[in-house]
Amino acid sequence: MTKQPIGVFISGRGTNLQSIINASKNENFPCEVKIVFSDNHSAKGIDLAKENGIDTFSLEIKDFINKGEFEEQILKLIKPYDLRLICLAGYMKILSSEFIEHYPNKILNIHPSLLPKYKGLNTHKRVLENNDDITGCTVHYVNHELDGGEIIVQKNVKVDATDSVTTLADKVLKQENMIYPEAIKMVLRK
Ligand code: GAR
Repeated sequence: MTKQPIGVFISGRGTNLQSIINASKNENFPCEVKIVFSDNHSAKGIDLAKENGIDTFSLEIKDFINKGEFEEQILKLIKPYDLRLICLAGYMKILSSEFIEHYPNKILNIHPSLLPKYKGLNTHKRVLENNDDITGCTVHYVNHELDGGEIIVQKNVKVDATDSVTTLADKVLKQENMIYPEAIKMVLRK
């Protein structure tokens, strides 16, 4: 099977990146990570990508006149890879509509809540403050509305009375790492 080229955008640690790379080592997985981009030069995920022989590049927005210029440069650098998908995996910048229009229905994101609940930041803190029994994670298409695109896969996680933001984040992250490869497979097999 010819594997389709995908890119992964990160800002930090890269456990979701790692789970996608691991999955792609299976010959039946439909794609291969060809490029990893980070908006943070010191993201740990960059080293991880390099250890796996994947092309990487990082650009920081502070080195550009504005967000438009920053994104133009990203678009230029990823163009030669002819990416079938861009997977945002802990990428903490909001992509502009102009950027998204270059990759219609080809950008996915993972979010640490059961969307449409808790869009944006500090999801686990808000779940605990509201005494929710159930939280989870979501892989969805990226559109012009923050965390608002069509949902592809979700996974529930039980909230225990003893959970803190840290323990909850760990439990949710384990599930994130499972569902991201699953979601990619579903999208590429459509
Ligand atoms: C993950 O929990 C992901 O859901 C979250 O950042 C973390 C990245 O972890 N993303 C967002 O909050 C996006 N709004 P990782 O670097 O280990 O994959």
